[in-house]
Amino acid sequence: MTNGAGVAERAAELRRQIDYHNHRYHVLDEPEISDAEFDILMRDLGALEAEHPELVRPESPTQRVGAAPLDAFDSIQHKVPLLSLGNAFDAVELKAWHTRAARILDESSFAMVCELKIDGLAVAVTYEEGSLKTGATRGDGLKGEDVTQNLRTIKSLPLVVSTDSGLGRFEVRGEVYMPRSGFDRMNLERADQGLPLFANPRNAAAGALRQLDPRVTATRPLDIFIYALGWAEGTTPDSHAEALRVLKEIGFRTNPHNRLCKNIDEVEDYFRSWLESRESLDYGADGVVVKINPFEMHQRLGEVGREPRWAVAYKFPATQVVTRLLDIGINVGRTGSLNPFAILEPVDVGGVRVKMATLHNEDDIRRKDIRVGDWVTVERAGEVIPQVVGPVVSRRTGQEKPFSMPEICPVCGTQVVRPEDEAMHYCVNATCPAQFYELLKHFVGRGMMDIDGMGESLTLALIDAGLVNDVADIYSLTADQLTGLERMGEKSADNIMRGIEASRGRPLDRLVFALGVRHVGFETARLIAQAFPNIDAIRDASAERLTAIPGIGPKIADSIVVYFQEPKNREVIEKLKKAGVDPHHEVQEEVAAGPLTGLSFVLTGGLDTMTREETTARIVALGGSVSSSVSKKTSFVVVGTEPGSKLQKALALGTRQLNEAEMLKLLEEGPPPAPAEPERKGNG
Ligand code: IVH
Repeated sequence: MTNGAGVAERAAELRRQIDYHNHRYHVLDEPEISDAEFDILMRDLGALEAEHPELVRPESPTQRVGAAPLDAFDSIQHKVPLLSLGNAFDAVELKAWHTRAARILDESSFAMVCELKIDGLAVAVTYEEGSLKTGATRGDGLKGEDVTQNLRTIKSLPLVVSTDSGLGRFEVRGEVYMPRSGFDRMNLERADQGLPLFANPRNAAAGALRQLDPRVTATRPLDIFIYALGWAEGTTPDSHAEALRVLKEIGFRTNPHNRLCKNIDEVEDYFRSWLESRESLDYGADGVVVKINPFEMHQRLGEVGREPRWAVAYKFPATQVVTRLLDIGINVGRTGSLNPFAILEPVDVGGVRVKMATLHNEDDIRRKDIRVGDWVTVERAGEVIPQVVGPVVSRRTGQEKPFSMPEICPVCGTQVVRPEDEAMHYCVNATCPAQFYELLKHFVGRGMMDIDGMGESLTLALIDAGLVNDVADIYSLTADQLTGLERMGEKSADNIMRGIEASRGRPLDRLVFALGVRHVGFETARLIAQAFPNIDAIRDASAERLTAIPGIGPKIADSIVVYFQEPKNREVIEKLKKAGVDPHHEVQEEVAAGPLTGLSFVLTGGLDTMTREETTARIVALGGSVSSSVSKKTSFVVVGTEPGSKLQKALALGTRQLNEAEMLKLLEEGPPPAPAEPERKGNG
């Protein structure tokens, strides 16, 4: 029999251990024990508390989600108002803010803390004797909503903190947000369940925090960064940097990128470096908050209205703006896909003039209910093509027109089809001029047949002059024909002839990719080329033979078979062979074993030091495999600049990511050890 005191001690010890490991995992991101070990501690404490309900404390880790649903939120009066921030939209405005502070302080230099301005919701959380007491939203700055029960479900927010710091009662302030990865995962799950999707992580975080039932909040992937000490009793720090240090030390999650800067130049450096790399963060940041460091200076500077003079929000240029959708245009791609795009009233997005944006496909337009004439939100992230996020429904006049895909190809007039299970419409006329122009550009492009000097205007001129009617016609061009074209000198013509000559020797994988078969990207083309000695063998392969190749599914196989069944395409292949474009190679049965054997990679975005083909070749040479789409089997996704939807998928699946430097390291040194811990965030 255990005596009462023994049980109480055991419960306290378990709580201490759980709190410790929770902090290591959720706050420091450095777990020491496995999920399973953590679960055992939680289960033991749960069992002990079930047997001895008198031992249950509100700050026990078993009590994060426990409260009954509310009918409505109470309101909480903030003891010290939550201020807002003035903005600086460029270096001149930042300088003006700094100069004014320097004048009032009568000091020429002072230190400032730079922090990322996290895109979430401000909250204020109070602690008494080290235990979480209340948590409230910002509200109007004076009064907020009591969301204590919901805040308690956020595992990185401690229910108890060390009292060794000398602080008495105090309030911390911070930003609740939803990580992008969690947001993507959640939306994928919701889509699977047919539930409405959240528009962005900020709305999703706001929705989660305002749930009346804390059990619902607990299922949403919320997190928090603490960015300030609101008010405090006891021994208090004398600067903001010191306050952040103490808060981190006693258990709060502060942002690891906070930096103490000596002068405005360092602030500018911080801002510029995050302007470039903020896309790599797992949360949205819309600027940098600059805070003068010594608290004594805050006193002297005071505030204007609701904005303190000692801090400023130095905003990143907006990446989302609202403009009018004038029309929806259709571009016919090389595989015949009809790609709708937005024609916009020109607008400045983050310093770039935007007139057009992608709209993906008809389903997407329907789902977002985008209508011609709408005011729409347009987003530009990094260097990727701007996209239409959605309509501003409140600005509708009733004059807007829903969109439907044209029934005939806008270029050649052929009836369009939409294959089952596909989101795209296609023009099936293989000789459609628009399709052919896109195909020709693709065929001669880098990574395909790579014909030097054949740019967009030349491909167009060749088609217009009737000199090239299919891709094989390139190989019967003469220098005289080229010089007969407008603005084409003899020297350029010679260069192009040499480029054409060189392209005859491209390997099979490049040729297969260059043909522009639907669903056959470079990685797929490589898998196919590896399995066959030449183009004839691929032409004659059955769907069964093709699906036997690892990485080739029925959809791709069908597409290849259909392509080679088309008489026009067979004719082009024959012409190519006659022109000497007929790569042969030995089929390697076994891929050489190497340090990357058993590892599969997916590439997304461009790398600076290697082309996609080189990267692939190096991975394969070391025994690894490269696939075109992310699945549960993918070991790594290699993320370059302008990554595409593969990154989204990888984030959703929790696939490990490599940047360029890490990829290079891996190619040189072999794979790192497997991750020590499986994923626990969100359900640990
Ligand atoms: S300090 C007086 N620091 O930005 C200073 N705010 O208008 C008050 N925010 O709604 C805020 N990240 O929620 C501060 N590192 C950060 C922040 C931050 C995000 C939000 C805050 C508030 C708004 C300021």
